[in-house]
Amino acid sequence: MNRATATAHSNIALAKYWGKADRELNLPAVPSLSMTLDAMSTTTTVVFDDAFESDVVVLNGHEALGSARQRVCAVLDRVRQLAGRRQYASVSSSNNFPTAAGLASSASGFAALALAARAAAGLPDDPHAASSMARQASASAARSVFGGYVALDLGAHSARKVVGALHFPLSLVVAVTREGAKETGSTDGMEHTRATSPYYASWVASAPPICDQVEQAIVSRDLERLGPLVEHSALLMHASMLGANPAITYFSPASIAAIEAVKKLRQAGTLAYFTMDAGPHVKVICTPADTTRVAATLRSTPGVLRTIECKLGPDATVTREGGVES
Ligand code: DP6
Repeated sequence: MNRATATAHSNIALAKYWGKADRELNLPAVPSLSMTLDAMSTTTTVVFDDAFESDVVVLNGHEALGSARQRVCAVLDRVRQLAGRRQYASVSSSNNFPTAAGLASSASGFAALALAARAAAGLPDDPHAASSMARQASASAARSVFGGYVALDLGAHSARKVVGALHFPLSLVVAVTREGAKETGSTDGMEHTRATSPYYASWVASAPPICDQVEQAIVSRDLERLGPLVEHSALLMHASMLGANPAITYFSPASIAAIEAVKKLRQAGTLAYFTMDAGPHVKVICTPADTTRVAATLRSTPGVLRTIECKLGPDATVTREGGVES
């Protein structure tokens, strides 16, 4: 039996990824840069054993079937190929945050899976190789292998740590605006945008300089410069989706209300800036000192159900508890 357990943290992109340059390899069409979050993580255990007769995948206590299982098995197949193994695996994965809320769990999930599966199969401890493997399953997952601020550069196969959490300690508050029910998934949403939106080409052209500037603002610890870039990146991404036919809209009335609340906070002197992904939740970056105020304002906004306060998270970790190699 060969067994390993990995924990990876979720991430939120400050410069967004939306669209693929290569669907086969799952290489993004734009560079992206994210912050890893301490409060949301996935822990995954992978066991390879001669006794298993098929791969069994359990996500949050329930056996995964269909396409969810298929995506996990694709990662296991790649690991088996690299390690020259034939054994089936059992995968058991759980999130410390509710998946039903539609908060991205694929990033932390596939990062933890790639790390645990590689270690269980006896492949060398190589975070960049794990990041590349996670990227093939879900590109945002490449970034969750590392803590702090993390970039996935254009054409890169693995993510790159930009700076650690201590360099520029920001907070991120998630305004949860809906529990349960999934929207158009990001993989389908970005492909539909590429295929039908006349704004897609402009998005792809405008994203790289914004991502560069986001990195510079982080390196120079400049929230007043970073914030407007973060909002611009998110809104350009959503504009490309609004131009799709039919349009993809992730905004709910509560999302708009939360965005307005963030603007009001700013008018009153608090440096708070929003971003949004493939769902109606609004994520707000601010200084650690302003976190409590920002969270309270969001909670008093109509339609906001609750908030999750996050700081920057650490590198993913992996431990191998193996028997004899085979
Ligand atoms: C809006 O990484 O979920 O969260 O590579 O197809 O699995 P696939 O897409 P995914 O897309 C994430 C999109 C986003 C922005 C981001 O995280 O950069």
